[in-house]
Parts: sequence; C-alpha cells; structure tokens
Amino acid sequence: MSEGAIESVLQEKRWFAPPPTFAAKARIGSYEAYRALYDRSREDPIAFWEEQAAQELAWFERWHTVLDWQPPQAKWFEGGRLNVSHNCLDRHLGTWRRNKAAIVWEGEPGDSRTLTYGQLHREVCQMANVLKQLGVQKGDVVGIYLPMIPEAAIAMLACARLGAPHSVVFGGFSAEALRDRLNDAQAKVLITADGGWRKDAVVPLKDQADKALAGVPSVQHVLVVRRAAQPVTMVPGRDSWWHDLQAGAAGQCPAEPCASEDVLFVLYTSGSTGKPKGVVHTTAGYNLYAHMTTQWVFDLRDEDVYWCTADVGWITGHSYIVYGPLSNGATVVMYEGAPRPTNPGCFWDIIEKYGVTIFYTAPTAIRAFLKAGEHFPRARDLSSLRLLGTVGEPINPEAWMWYHHVIGGGRCPIVDTWWQTETGGILISALPGAIATKPGSAALPLPGIFPQVVDLNGHPVGVNEGGYLTVTHPWPGMMRTVFGDPERFRRSYWEHIPPCDGQYFYFAGDGARQDEDGYFWVMGRVDDVINAAGHRLGTMEIESALVSHPAVAEAAVVGKPDPLKGEDICAFVILAEGQTPNEALVQALKDHVVQEIGAIARPGDIRFAPALPKTRSGKIVRRLLRALAAGSDFSGDLSTLEDRSVLDRLREEV
Ligand code: WT7
Repeated sequence: MSEGAIESVLQEKRWFAPPPTFAAKARIGSYEAYRALYDRSREDPIAFWEEQAAQELAWFERWHTVLDWQPPQAKWFEGGRLNVSHNCLDRHLGTWRRNKAAIVWEGEPGDSRTLTYGQLHREVCQMANVLKQLGVQKGDVVGIYLPMIPEAAIAMLACARLGAPHSVVFGGFSAEALRDRLNDAQAKVLITADGGWRKDAVVPLKDQADKALAGVPSVQHVLVVRRAAQPVTMVPGRDSWWHDLQAGAAGQCPAEPCASEDVLFVLYTSGSTGKPKGVVHTTAGYNLYAHMTTQWVFDLRDEDVYWCTADVGWITGHSYIVYGPLSNGATVVMYEGAPRPTNPGCFWDIIEKYGVTIFYTAPTAIRAFLKAGEHFPRARDLSSLRLLGTVGEPINPEAWMWYHHVIGGGRCPIVDTWWQTETGGILISALPGAIATKPGSAALPLPGIFPQVVDLNGHPVGVNEGGYLTVTHPWPGMMRTVFGDPERFRRSYWEHIPPCDGQYFYFAGDGARQDEDGYFWVMGRVDDVINAAGHRLGTMEIESALVSHPAVAEAAVVGKPDPLKGEDICAFVILAEGQTPNEALVQALKDHVVQEIGAIARPGDIRFAPALPKTRSGKIVRRLLRALAAGSDFSGDLSTLEDRSVLDRLREEV
C-alpha cells in the first residue's frame, strides 16, 4: 500500500429523494426515522444489537454477553444457542408462510420449480439426515460445488441444521481451485452435481470434482445431484446419488442447538493475490446481521418477489439469496443461467414471468445490459419492479442513470450497497424509503455501523478528501478469522491502519471520501490508485468520466510507468454498440475527461479493448491491465479469471 492521501476529482451533483409513494409504505419511511435508529445504535450499540437479537431471531437459549471484544477478536451473543436453519425455516412453519413460496427457481433451459417453506423444510431435513448417515457431525466441513439449483440452498441449510460448516465453491471454478479450497478447509464430504447449465452449455461439475478429489484425501463421501443428464463416473464406496439417499431419508430432523460462535461457514475470497483466504462466519451474529440488513436495505415485505442475481458461491448469494431473505420469510427467485448471446434478455423475461419486485445485481451486469441496448428490457413488462440494488464494484453515475431510467422506469429507488465477503452483510447503503440517493455514492452507514475515512495514521480526513475506508466498531456480521490462520486475519485487516488511542480500524482495501452530507463515495481499491504527477487518483472517478461519454460502455484505468509523471493514466475502453474506434474519438475522450474532471486526470494513453479481464464474480482485474500497459508479463494467480482468453485478445489487439 503506498502512502498519502487520495485526491477526489469527481463532481456528481444529481440526487434523488425517496419517492413519496415508496416512503409512505416503507419499513423505515423517513430520514428522521433512519437518524433516530442510527443515533440510538451509536449511543448504545450493545443495547441496540441486543434488542434486535431478542426481537428478530428465535433462540433456544438466551446469551449472557452481547459482545466480548478483544481486538481483533469479537464474540457476539456468547452463551446463546440457536440454529440458522431453524430461523430460516421452522419458525415460519407455524404461520401462514408454511405454504408460501420460499424459492422460485428457473433453470436455464426453461424448466422451473417452486418450493414452499414447508417443502423446503422437508427437503432440508432429509438432506441433514443423509449427511448424518454419511458420518457428518457437528463441526465437520462439507464442501458444496453446485450450479444455481435449489439443491444448493438445501445443502447449505442442511449443513446449518447439523452445525456442520459449509464451504461453497463457485461452480465456475476449476478443478485446481476446488482442490485447494477443499484441502484448506479439510472438507469431509463434497456435494456436487453431474453438471449445470450455463450459457447454453453444460458445465461438467462432477468431472471437475473427480479431478479435484484425486488430490483431496480428507473427502470421504461425495453426493451427486442429477441435474443435467450428464454421463458421470460414480466411484463405489465414495459417491452416491442425492436422489437415491434422499428417497430413504426421514423428513424430520431436529435442528442442532448451536453456540452463537459456532462456525456457520467458510467462504474463500476471490484471492486476487496469493492464496485465497477462508473467511469464517459464525452463527448468531451472521444470522442477525443478514436478517436485519435484508429488512433495512431491501425493505422486504411478505408480498415481495425478491431476486438477487448473484451465485450462491459468493457472499452475496449466502447473505442475500439464502440466509437474509429466508430468515425473513421472503419469496426468493433463483436463476440457474446467465445472459448469453442466444438470450441477452433472459433477466427481463424472468422479471416479467414472476413479477419480480426487488432486483439486486452487479455493476458489471448493468454495464453489459447498457452495451447490449435498451430494446431488450423495453421488450418486457418490468412494471412490477419497485426497488433496484447493486453490489460488487463502484457503479459509474452514467450506468446508475441508465439503470434508473431503463430498468427502474424512473420510479424505483436504487440501493448501491457497499460491503465485502469479510463484512458478512451490507455496511453502507441508502435505505430506499429514507435516504436520498446520489448516483455513484453508496450513501450512508447502516445502523450499528461506524465507518470512518482516515489517513494512514488513523486520523480522519476532511470533507471530500480521499482516504482509507475503515470501520471503527465491531458489528455482528463481521468475519471472525481466516480459517486456520488467525495471524493472517490480524495482518490482513487490522494492521494497515495501526490502532490509535485504543481505537482499532478494520480496513479491507478500499479508498473513499465522504461528502458534505456525510455520503460515502467509494473510489476503488487502494492498490489500484494511480500516482500521476504527484496526484493520487482513484480509478472510479476517471472511469466514470469516460463512461459518461456516449460512445463508451465500460472503462478501466490504470497507471503506466512514465519517466516524467511517475505514472501516466492508461485507459482501456469498451465502446458502446455501433461505435467504431478511431483517432478522433481518442482525442474526444481525452478532452471529455479534462472537461469532466480536469487536466490532472487526462489519460495520456487510450486503448480500445475487445473485453476487460474480470474475476468470475465480475470485477475488473486492473493488476493485469497494469501489466499490459507496462508491457510486462501477466503474473500472479490467474485462476480467478472468468475468461483467460481475454488476455490473449488484449495482447493481440490492444
Ligand atoms: C469489494 C468486496 C460485497 C459482496 C460482493 C463482493 C467492492 C463491493 C461495492 C459498492 C463500490 C464495492 C469493494 C469491496 N465493492 N460493493 N457498492 N461500491 N465498491 O464481495 O468479492 O468480497 O468484494 O468489492 O472494493 O472491498 P467481495
């Protein structure tokens, strides 16, 4: 991490008040109501969280200590006992929700399936019994490597029911990536499928799993879901079909009373550098945090049809497809596939088909929709939507505006939610009925969250000055450790900004500024900051200036070594549909950036790119673009890339 402040140059003045009709019905319906909740959490965070825990979760035994904070180690609700699957399922069964749709699933080939809370409960119990039969006990880690099918949620909840931590590995990961994660977590059982549909093809998951398992001695049993009618090799004594064992399993299974700090899951970070970290989340704090933030941010109510397009292999899928929504008794849409050349409008088909009311997706997807053009969403009835969300990267204001107009019909608030795998749930976001939104800003901290933008000594920076985005007080959903490596936990998150006057700073790598209204503007990863002629500039602001030009669909900027300036700004630009690259456009884009934010941000080098290197969760990997700009070799871990062939195309064409 390099030294010094980060300059903020973006000037975005548009803002949108919560629509009065939305606010009138919202759970938190005014700024004053938000402020009152926030102030109360600030005055007494312990009492605040204790109250939420008592009101919102079902407990087998009450805690004796709300928070035990031995930095960087937090323990929440010690002495308490509960079960997350009980909170997500059983407690709804005694209500009318027994026959409410819990999961509405759509397969990529167009097949579909709906599971009510009653049905989901039964299948989860059956799977918990199957896992028991395979020898899984409380504390044993179960690997899950599945496509986006209901069995993924069933498997997670079955593990939670037994107190067996799950470790979900995204189905797009390779055999090697799966092997390393299963080994690190010492998984005892793996749940996978013959295959899954993605972009009109079957991903052969079982084949990948077999390759991985050749190098994973800890896995004793493999459970295989039949999804894609793929021929697979079943290893006798090790492999069983999910449906075979399910058929003989009882539909009742008591939920294990877990201690508050029992591990609920281990989830590996994308690992842009070095060995991926196994982020550990525990039972009570995580459940409470996912539950509360789902209510606050999505204003979720029983009539909603809620759709988060993430994969369950990411934290977004854990917190906002499975645990948060189900703990609240919501109806969740789950989709197996992805937009693809044969059906670029598949998301809009699903919104129309199921009458989706809340839609939560990533900036990378929004930029792809923007590039593909308005005619796809315009061809469908999206009038059921009432709220939109985004997560994963900073969203450029122009992409925000497009989302607002074209998808939201100008009537839906947009919640830009800032958080991380490590934080367990959303930390900074607008509340849609209470907080005005500004395109490009994640807005304000949620109740119980006390972020601060500081310099490297932990001193707060001034209004509109860039700095390091930290969190200064523990919260229930925070990660507890790196699996098997508490020292790495301390080093990775608590050392960059040293403690100061007994104050500890959680820091996980983002730069940000706070404006005169207290709004947070995330400027990108501090590792990506560009040092141009003495100015330290975040990537988000320059990229936003480029994307605000009508010819540009997407942009990524990096620093390129320059003998005079230290670094020159090099921009990789993806053009909008129908635009052709030429010298005049290069000049026009440079001028445009100068006009939008000033001469210090003028990119010396603009390159038209066929595609950008992205992680499998859709984040731009600027480290590789830096190598390209500098003319050096691609190095570091490439296994997290969505499509490695992009690197060859960039080398050839750019
Ligand atoms: C990093 C965390 C959080 C679940 C999905 C990604 C970036 C995430 C935003 C946002 C600006 C964002 C940050 C963060 N990020 N949301 N709304 N605005 N940046 O989880 O893979 O752990 O990534 O994603 O850089 O640190 P993750």
